[in-house]
Amino acid sequence: MRIPILISRAAAAALLTLPLAAAAEEDNPYAPLPPAEGVETVASHCAACHSARTFVHMRQGRDWWDDTIDRMKRDHGMWDIDTETREEVLDYLEANLGPETD
Ligand code: HEC
Repeated sequence: MRIPILISRAAAAALLTLPLAAAAEEDNPYAPLPPAEGVETVASHCAACHSARTFVHMRQGRDWWDDTIDRMKRDHGMWDIDTETREEVLDYLEANLGPETD
């Protein structure tokens, strides 16, 4: 007699978690960038000319991202960013889009 109760609880839990997961996605205005410290800065400097989809799948180390900023400036007319902002962008990219993150 207890089994049906357990099953219905599991079903109810599944129904509750699905909309929550969907809501979490909608709560991230910077998607597809993973929500983390610095995401706002990265979004405003790296998702201005193209979508973050251009690079969000690339798993690269800090040096490659550093070169990428230079490439964006040299080839695509990206604006200057101060050292502090550059470090914040690189910290985010390294931590969230690094070779080991997936
Ligand atoms: C001033 C405009 C501009 C800004 C700002 C900009 N990009 Fe780009 N980026 C481009 C253009 C134009 C291309 C080439 C066309 C495309 O792929 O959309 C490009 C292509 C890329 C590519 C693929 C080609 C390559 O050289 O690797 C990556 C990766 C990239 N951008 C990452 C970034 C990151 C990370 C930032 C933030 C630090 C950034 N971009 C900021 C204009 C910009």
